[in-house]
Amino acid sequence: MSNTTPLETERTDGRDDPDAVRATTVGESEETIRPAWRQYDFEGDPKMSVRNLDVHYGDDHALKDISMEIPEESVTALIGPSGCGKSTFLRCLNRMNDRIRAADVDGEVTYDGEDIYQGGVNLVELRKRVGMVFQAPNPFPKSIRENVSYGPRKHGEVRTGFFDRLTGRDDREQRDRIVEESLRKAALWDEVNDRLDENALSLSGGQQQRLCIARCLAVDPEVILMDEPASALDPIATAKIEDLIEELSEEYTVVVVTHNMQQAARISDQTAVFLTGGELVEYGDTDRIFENPNSDRVEDYITGKFG
Ligand SMILES: Nc1ncnc2c1ncn2[C@@H]1O[C@H](COP(=O)(O)OP(=O)(O)O)[C@@H](O)[C@H]1O
Ligand SMILES: [Mg+2]
Repeated sequence: MSNTTPLETERTDGRDDPDAVRATTVGESEETIRPAWRQYDFEGDPKMSVRNLDVHYGDDHALKDISMEIPEESVTALIGPSGCGKSTFLRCLNRMNDRIRAADVDGEVTYDGEDIYQGGVNLVELRKRVGMVFQAPNPFPKSIRENVSYGPRKHGEVRTGFFDRLTGRDDREQRDRIVEESLRKAALWDEVNDRLDENALSLSGGQQQRLCIARCLAVDPEVILMDEPASALDPIATAKIEDLIEELSEEYTVVVVTHNMQQAARISDQTAVFLTGGELVEYGDTDRIFENPNSDRVEDYITGKFG
């Protein structure tokens, strides 16, 4: 499951050494030292690491000096009131903010120790590795099969149909294998295997969201970003997405935004609490954050005094 293609055309010395990144992230110099309760000590390597991240939209300072590391193969929840910068933060992790003209991103974000904001990064490759699932299910108005095979086709991993005549290649078997595997991983195969050629829009909302997850898995990502993936769904469909997120974290690094604190408590291993003004106020083991937060502001937020 590991990709070997570098994200960049050129590498900077030391960037591929996770220990070097960790040392600079925790930092010796005064200005980079974070309060202890914003540091999270976990076992294993960070899959992604964010250091001194600031985002402005014009005069609006949406994220302020955020530093945190995202452990691999686990679920990281981002919680906080509306407008505190959760979606902005998530979009920094695969450079989706590049598409928002007003957004000005400053700081360092690394993926496997490589700075994703340095020159020469291939954005198509980055977004393949760091996939994204949105709040409202957004399948293409095409068949279930075409939705899942869209990514692999775009990346040239399977060529079928129109391309056959040009190249002589016919990857239908490979395509069908990827479609089945992705739908199985997204816990949707049993519900749709007899109607793969039906329009995806005929599925229920919850099925559509699992299809969007399958579409994301089909290009073999390592990190999956989800922005309130269940907030448009009913409780039963939500429970299926929550189960799926926990299953996916055995193989993938999942970062999920939710404004539902019970959901964060149920599904995540670690939780980052953002509060109004774009601050990361506390980050740590999910059980500890909910049972015994260090910050009074986090305690007030979790116990519902505001937010
Ligand atoms: N595309 C945008 N253009 C301008 N301002 C934005 C944009 N997206 C978000 N913002 C602003 O950035 C802040 C954080 O928004 P957002 O990241 O969407 O918060 P959340 O996801 O926590 O609700 C808000 O003040 C919001 O108005
Ligand atoms: Mg949001």
